[in-house]
Amino acid sequence: MSKPLNIGMIGYGFMGRAHSNGYRRVSNFFNLEYTPVLKAACARDAAKARAFADQWGYESIETDWRKLLERKDIDAVDICVPNNLHKEIAIAAAKAGKMILCEKPLAMDSAEGEEMCQAVEKAGVANIVWYNYRRIPAVTFAKQLIDSGKLGKIFHYRANFLQDWTINADVPQGGQGTWRLDAAAAGSGVTGDLLAHCIDTALWLNGSISNVTAMTETFVKQRKHSLTGKVEKVGIDDACAFLCHFQNGSLGLFESTRYARGHKALYTFEINGEHASIKWDLHDLHRLQWFDHKTEGPLRAWSSIHVTDGEHPYMSKWWVPGLAIGYEHSFVHQVADFLEGLATGKPAGPTFRDALETQQVCDAVLASAKSGAWTGVG
Ligand SMILES: NC(=O)c1ccc[n+]([C@@H]2O[C@H](COP(=O)([O-])OP(=O)(O)OC[C@H]3O[C@@H](n4cnc5c(N)ncnc54)[C@H](O)[C@@H]3O)[C@@H](O)[C@H]2O)c1
Repeated sequence: MSKPLNIGMIGYGFMGRAHSNGYRRVSNFFNLEYTPVLKAACARDAAKARAFADQWGYESIETDWRKLLERKDIDAVDICVPNNLHKEIAIAAAKAGKMILCEKPLAMDSAEGEEMCQAVEKAGVANIVWYNYRRIPAVTFAKQLIDSGKLGKIFHYRANFLQDWTINADVPQGGQGTWRLDAAAAGSGVTGDLLAHCIDTALWLNGSISNVTAMTETFVKQRKHSLTGKVEKVGIDDACAFLCHFQNGSLGLFESTRYARGHKALYTFEINGEHASIKWDLHDLHRLQWFDHKTEGPLRAWSSIHVTDGEHPYMSKWWVPGLAIGYEHSFVHQVADFLEGLATGKPAGPTFRDALETQQVCDAVLASAKSGAWTGVG
């Protein structure tokens, strides 16, 4: 008999929906010791909280996250609100003894992140950060290939995350929907929003980064603020590129922008090793491109692996071989792994402490872009 795990969801936006879908579906596909129960949805506006709760099947609502944390019937809180709220809610949740599933980036910077790590470690509460791309089967499969040594020594790691939604100077900053353009709510621009995903995947697949040299640009210097109505200076980075050294001796090249006309969410990475290379593209997320130099000369070629076989990570839980799953399943997998971690006592990552390393790389990238110098991480 599965044990209930009562979830308190904070925020009803993009991630509030993606995570709720994960909680609702996980027990249909995975046999786990715990079953998530959608206990309460929290948002400032009662009518919106009620509409969200009704749509997704939450039993109750709260309009103040502090009230949610006081409730004895909540086991875990899920933080799906803008980045500037993560720290205060997470520290209070840890003090209240709640497990915490926090959206990325962990915090506004690594000083905040360190405080959050200390809070969850002191309270001894389970914690995880939603770097969900790790749990797309083709990405998890890339991890298995690298860990098995099939690529040999790694020379290069290349990643991009390209979008085009802020090219229009009339897009405001701040407030619902556009808080990502307001440095006070987001902390940084594409670095914390998009590159943080690329960095988390890279640290997981290829190990720690020693130092970075970066450049950032803010193409639109002023935007109207949705909340104040005033035209204000833009404090975020619209684009960022950086080079880095990994501790394993490989070289990294990362680029992110919201000004790449034609690209909506083009997250790609390529890894070149001594024996083989792999490539992955979010727009074709169930495929992993593979080149094996050990293949007999004339037959040597890039191949496109359809990562939908029962032997591929997570896929035996879904349909039959050959049938693809999508973006939303990465969140189902994250819930499954979190619950499995509770049952086995081996916490699923990235924990707050793991995600702090991504934050430290982001800090080094932003510091290097400012100073123009190579900057150490941590
Ligand atoms: N893992 C991913 O791939 C991914 C994707 C998108 C966003 N994110 C992260 O998820 C978080 C939320 O982003 P989103 O895209 O869902 O944003 P969103 O704008 O769609 O939703 C934010 C929600 O927070 C609510 N909110 C704001 N202040 C609040 C408060 N004081 N109390 C309660 N609710 C409050 C808003 O009403 C809204 O429901 C961010 O940290 C973001 O970086 C992660």
